[in-house]
Amino acid sequence: MPEVFSEHLLRDRVVLITGGGSGLGLSMAKRFARLGARVAITGRKPERLEAAAGEIDPTGARVFARAADVREFDQVEALVAAIEAEMGPVDALVNNAAGNFLAPTEDLSPRAFDAVVRTVLHGSFHATLAVGRRMIERGSGGSIVSIATTYAWTGSAFVVPSAAGKAGVLAMTRSLAVEWATYGIRVNAIAPGPFPTEGAWQALMPTPEVEAQAKERIPAGRFGEHDELTSLAAFLLSDAAPFITGECVTIDGGEWLGSGGEFNHLTRVPREQVKSVMRKMRR
Ligand code: HXC
Repeated sequence: MPEVFSEHLLRDRVVLITGGGSGLGLSMAKRFARLGARVAITGRKPERLEAAAGEIDPTGARVFARAADVREFDQVEALVAAIEAEMGPVDALVNNAAGNFLAPTEDLSPRAFDAVVRTVLHGSFHATLAVGRRMIERGSGGSIVSIATTYAWTGSAFVVPSAAGKAGVLAMTRSLAVEWATYGIRVNAIAPGPFPTEGAWQALMPTPEVEAQAKERIPAGRFGEHDELTSLAAFLLSDAAPFITGECVTIDGGEWLGSGGEFNHLTRVPREQVKSVMRKMRR
């Protein structure tokens, strides 16, 4: 993909990315670093974070990595204090850490529900609170982007904890966009469709058949590419989007709208055939 931004778009911004050791979080960290940011990544596994930090910046000068479980506010608070001691004030936060698995809801234990909702919703709240309080106290303003999903508003079978957690994140985003506008803090969300990552594919695409069906549902006919999402996140976080707040931008190749729409199924019939039938129907 061509680079659409100036290499200074995020110059010297300190950006914290939760779940930044792998998947889309790592892709965002790398892209933000290429756009001039200093990035802090966190996740539960120190060895994964260490490897990721080496990929983001082999010199180590522009990256901070420290393990924390976003489900525990004390750990998040200590993390943000450590980042600020080393890198200076956090300017931007990406709530990316998530947990998810496919399961029939009647088979879930309360602990299973808790494991996902505490990661997705409580985790996003914990990081938002720790970072947001500091932005407010300093009067610096800032930008927060949370990774939601399109089933935050449609709901989805077999992922009830994730759907409930992501819906909460979206409600938090819209609520805080209004509440914290006075502090110069913008709060937005991104709703991705399927973007291949090891974690998501392991959790959600159990067989090649399921993967093929998932691709078939996307009107664009393919899955997302990481830099398509990292571009959107960089834009929303940056000074190029000063008036955008409370928004949730969908990036899914038309997937969720394609799943509704009375006549959308006709797009799966060869177009010439559709046109021929429609011509014959014309009076
Ligand atoms: C049913 C399950 C389960 C499963 C775990 N549990 N996996 N129940 N089906 N597949 C239950 C356990 O039995 C246990 O309950 C409880 O959950 C906690 O399990 P632990 O393994 O102790 O939990 P923990 O390691 O703390 O966290 C579980 C997890 C974690 C949150 C699911 O494995 C995780 O973070 N996975 C990451 C997966 C990932 O990267 N996902 C990407 C998401 S992408 P009991 O009662 O037995 O003790 C995404 C995008 C969606 O969400 C959009 C797509 C378009």
